[in-house]
Amino acid sequence: MSLFFENPILDYPFPPRPKLLSEQEKQYYRERIKTLLAERNAVLVAHYYTDPDIQALAEETGGCVADSLEMARFGSLHPATTLIVAGVRFMGETAKILNPEKTVLMPTLAAECSLDLGCPIEQFNAFCDSHPERTVVVYANTSAEVKARADWVVTSSIAVELIEHLDSLGEKLIWAPDRHLGSYVQKQTGADILCWQGACIVHDEFKTQALARMKALYPQAAVLVHPESPQSVVEMADAVGSTSQLINAAKTLPHRELIVATDRGIFYKMQQACPEKVLIEAPTAGEGATCRSCAHCPWMAMNGVQAIFSALVADGGEHEIQVAAGVREKALLPLNRMLAFAATLKS
Ligand code: 13P
Ligand code: SF4
Repeated sequence: MSLFFENPILDYPFPPRPKLLSEQEKQYYRERIKTLLAERNAVLVAHYYTDPDIQALAEETGGCVADSLEMARFGSLHPATTLIVAGVRFMGETAKILNPEKTVLMPTLAAECSLDLGCPIEQFNAFCDSHPERTVVVYANTSAEVKARADWVVTSSIAVELIEHLDSLGEKLIWAPDRHLGSYVQKQTGADILCWQGACIVHDEFKTQALARMKALYPQAAVLVHPESPQSVVEMADAVGSTSQLINAAKTLPHRELIVATDRGIFYKMQQACPEKVLIEAPTAGEGATCRSCAHCPWMAMNGVQAIFSALVADGGEHEIQVAAGVREKALLPLNRMLAFAATLKS
């Protein structure tokens, strides 16, 4: 059984893009960042959707470029006392909840996520209160307060396995906030899920008809899809998975051409993983210039080398993530459950 809670999709003001820098300016910031990371005992933890300059810098300086689960794991295991999280705010909050003793800085705290914005804590509390018999599972793309209300946090890389596990225990579930990922895991597992109606503004824009036309143009290509995409797009996929799982699929699938339905920031690491392959962006509503995000998250795009430099120079203030102690203690429990569950899958 799958029931759905009606939640209005909010209209988001889009953030300003960072100022374009010349190659000389970028080089200046890159060098300064390298020095400051060493001086501050800091490490750069970046998501695959950030600017390739940031991903390269994270690699060169011993940081990581990863999906949201691996970012959380890396930040916890690394001995640095300061984490610079390049991504969106929930990623910085997760790092702070798991590592309260560390300073967690972000290039900008204004980097939101439509899933987080679409799941305000007051409405979510009311939703959970009206279904007290259900176990609450929330996606990592949520605020610290929403995590604090949950029994489990999960990322897309282990969502099917976790829901399968909870279903095998006979638990009825609330899933929030992504309706497409919720519907995907429900179909994969048959679990009894009551689903919040949030969506990712980037993945929501991939379109089946345009994708079918693209497949006709590249008949030999495989289609790789992130499960935040609409079900009809997921159904056209040869591989479905989190960002790191899609990179893995790109490497292991025999196809030479790959149509990729996720944020185009992933192309940097995907191409590195399989330089011999041809990567093609899946079409969004943008064919007629009507798309709002055009396969690139506007909040991920707010991360730039200049902002990372500012965060390191300020070493706190408007760049520092803070999570209230009461919220942190509650949110830690479902996050630790997620990490422990992920560790059982790894082993
Ligand atoms: P991953 O966990 O797959 O990296 O996804 C995070 C995200 O925000 C995708 O839009
Ligand atoms: Fe959120 Fe979508 Fe951006 Fe990922 S791509 S951070 S889910 S808005």
